[in-house]
Amino acid sequence: MRHAAPTDELLRAAFANAQTADGLPRYRILYDAVRRAILSQQLAPGVRLPSTRELARDLELSRNTVLSAFEALLAEGYLVSRAGSGTFVAHAAAGPVVRGGRRPSDGARGAGAGVPVRDGTGELSKRGARLARFRGGQRLEILPMGGSEADFTLFPMKQWQRLQSRQLRQGRLDLLDYAIKGGFEPLRRVIADYLRASRAVRVEVEQVVLTAGTQHSLDLCAQLLADAGDTVWIEDPGYWGARCVFDASGLKIEPIAVDPEGMNPELAPRGSRPRLIYLTPSNQYPMGVAMSLARRRSLLQIAARERAWIIEDDYDSELRYSGRPLASLQGLDSSERVVYVGTFSKVLYPGIKIGYMVVPSALAESFGSAVYDLQRPGQLAVQAALAEFIERGYFATHIRKLRQTYAERRERLIGALQAQLGEASRITSQPAGLHLVLRLPDGSDDERIEAVAKERGTTVRALSRYWIGPPSVRGLVIGFGYTAPDRLAHHGRNVARAVRAVIT
Ligand SMILES: Cc1ncc(COP(=O)(O)O)c(C=O)c1O
Repeated sequence: MRHAAPTDELLRAAFANAQTADGLPRYRILYDAVRRAILSQQLAPGVRLPSTRELARDLELSRNTVLSAFEALLAEGYLVSRAGSGTFVAHAAAGPVVRGGRRPSDGARGAGAGVPVRDGTGELSKRGARLARFRGGQRLEILPMGGSEADFTLFPMKQWQRLQSRQLRQGRLDLLDYAIKGGFEPLRRVIADYLRASRAVRVEVEQVVLTAGTQHSLDLCAQLLADAGDTVWIEDPGYWGARCVFDASGLKIEPIAVDPEGMNPELAPRGSRPRLIYLTPSNQYPMGVAMSLARRRSLLQIAARERAWIIEDDYDSELRYSGRPLASLQGLDSSERVVYVGTFSKVLYPGIKIGYMVVPSALAESFGSAVYDLQRPGQLAVQAALAEFIERGYFATHIRKLRQTYAERRERLIGALQAQLGEASRITSQPAGLHLVLRLPDGSDDERIEAVAKERGTTVRALSRYWIGPPSVRGLVIGFGYTAPDRLAHHGRNVARAVRAVIT
């Protein structure tokens, strides 16, 4: 038996290092520290660990905390306990040390499932490796002037809290269950009413399937409507989130160029036969153009002819600042080839993660049951609060407020850009959504402008980043949704200076 004293020190150091893991319970921090020490063979097989009492005293933890960590390590086979003699590092826990500190047996389905090794793709499936390349979620989305962020500080938190706690106070046990048949029926009903009235969507409540947002809706469409190797047409430039989902599902991505009338199917490669067509016809992301009626008709014809499914992402249609909202593409479709996808991310707050699909009636039952089978969804209490939020008219009031606020912010930003850039400030996106596009002369180095603006604390995005193929238009995507009105002139000035610094 080996001497335990250095083990004490080692564990103390490992535990101290691990303390930076904010928010984790202390037993979990200790568990991680011991597990890591075993996997990296700092704690060799056969080493005896201090008693839980000693360790608790040494690390100034409660004995229960140490017992919980040990229990988990014993259950997972990292430690073994021998009656009367103590707890030891298990021999079976040893193994060749691999990059990233994982053993081969610690593989894809273990506690570390999905954790990439250091090069990012090591033991992942092909699909996982493709997904890992996107490297999303590295930072919070919200940055001043970045992308298409909503200002969720405008969300009526008090009203929402009251509705949520009322739902819970009623003690309705059925709201604690899994959600079946596409989610909470009263919410699906109010969504159907809302879409019929405001977006001219042809919909009955049975066709509405609640999801955890657009990404989830797109993933379901990819899984239920296409097979690996099938072709999906997506807009170029377009929404990287959609591309990521389709790519990870093994679909063949066919970028279709966008022009001032939206996605142009005439520019598709000859003979390309889509199974899915993903687009943002009301407010093309990121260019901010609305699809013409002629284009809409032509795409519907292609979908009917090819027996393809159109996925209409109507992510921010509530946010139009002049004229009436455009009717949906789905409402024009008489062949039932459109899946209409909506979200509450932009008009409530992104983390609410409630979205919806309106699926053709022939698919409704299959979609409702597939959501259940694939996900066992829940969140009925939140869905119930949201149904009430809409029924009581709070949603409509909130949207009116958002429209007014964002329209003012947009105007301010345009004013600042025009004051600084004069003739050179070409805004080509329609008055809608949460960002605008500032066009730059052909061939401009928009990524360099992005970098210069960032050095000044203003995070705009280069338009050329949104292309799959070679970018044919240069510009900047500038968010105005999340920025406080009194900072817009400052950021507008920074953008203008960055433009002038690069384009001389
Ligand atoms: C084109 C587009 N669709 C959908 C969304 C919203 O996605 P989700 O509902 O997953 O939050 C976004 C968010 O930026 C978007 O840009």
